[in-house]
Amino acid sequence: MHILVIGASGRVGSILTQKLLQADHTVVGTTRQEEPVFELSNYSQIKLDLTADQVNITRQFPDNLDAVYFTSGSRGKDLLQVDLHGAIKTMKAAEEKNVSKYIMLSTIFATQPEKWQGVLPENMYDYYVAKLYADEWLINQTSLDYTILQPGALKEEKGNGTIATQVEEPGENPIEDVAQTLVEVLQNPKASKKVITMHSGEKRIPEAIATL
Ligand SMILES: NC(=O)c1ccc[n+]([C@@H]2O[C@H](COP(=O)([O-])OP(=O)(O)OC[C@H]3O[C@@H](n4cnc5c(N)ncnc54)[C@H](OP(=O)(O)O)[C@@H]3O)[C@@H](O)[C@H]2O)c1
Repeated sequence: MHILVIGASGRVGSILTQKLLQADHTVVGTTRQEEPVFELSNYSQIKLDLTADQVNITRQFPDNLDAVYFTSGSRGKDLLQVDLHGAIKTMKAAEEKNVSKYIMLSTIFATQPEKWQGVLPENMYDYYVAKLYADEWLINQTSLDYTILQPGALKEEKGNGTIATQVEEPGENPIEDVAQTLVEVLQNPKASKKVITMHSGEKRIPEAIATL
């Protein structure tokens, strides 16, 4: 497949991109950096800033994409421009370029604000609001074949290859397992038009997605 990874330089985006490249997909990664994140024949890169205007973002999108991943984020520094408006601009670009599949890396319970009270630290609210409305736009305002993955805290540790999905309590996730789950939802139609909460668990990733 021909895949765009928005945020290929990030902690999740880089591991996701590496896995997609290993699976012989052709990947275009985005970053604002000049240096290539990967030097492989099936990888190319575009310098995309999510604060650019819609016309520019759409123009930078490659043609003939099969799927778009959104793994970018501002780490709280520019939530409106990057995590919310930036994300929505990429959804609009995907629709204009006739991409069918759009996979959003979101965060646990972003679309369940009734669960935020007493669980989120005060300084996380604005981030959650940005993710809530980006996710809701994807679900309600686009015709994209979306999957929204909502993991809890990301941990820089080796993956187990096993997860729990549609969880009701927040939990931790090795970044590698989140990246592998993002790969899995691309290839399994069971993930189509689903919002998937997750954390570490007991089920092998393919089985966890197949039994959604
Ligand atoms: N931290 C957690 O525990 C946690 C838990 C659940 C979900 N998440 C979600 O997972 C996402 C990815 O996490 P991560 O740790 O992999 O993030 P990260 O390492 O901080 O990577 C952020 C990515 O966003 C890109 N970016 C930032 N500002 C941009 C802009 N103005 N225009 C274009 N690209 C921009 C960066 O690209 P450049 O190379 O251009 O800087 C980078 O590729 C987070 O944003 C969050 O929504 C996080």
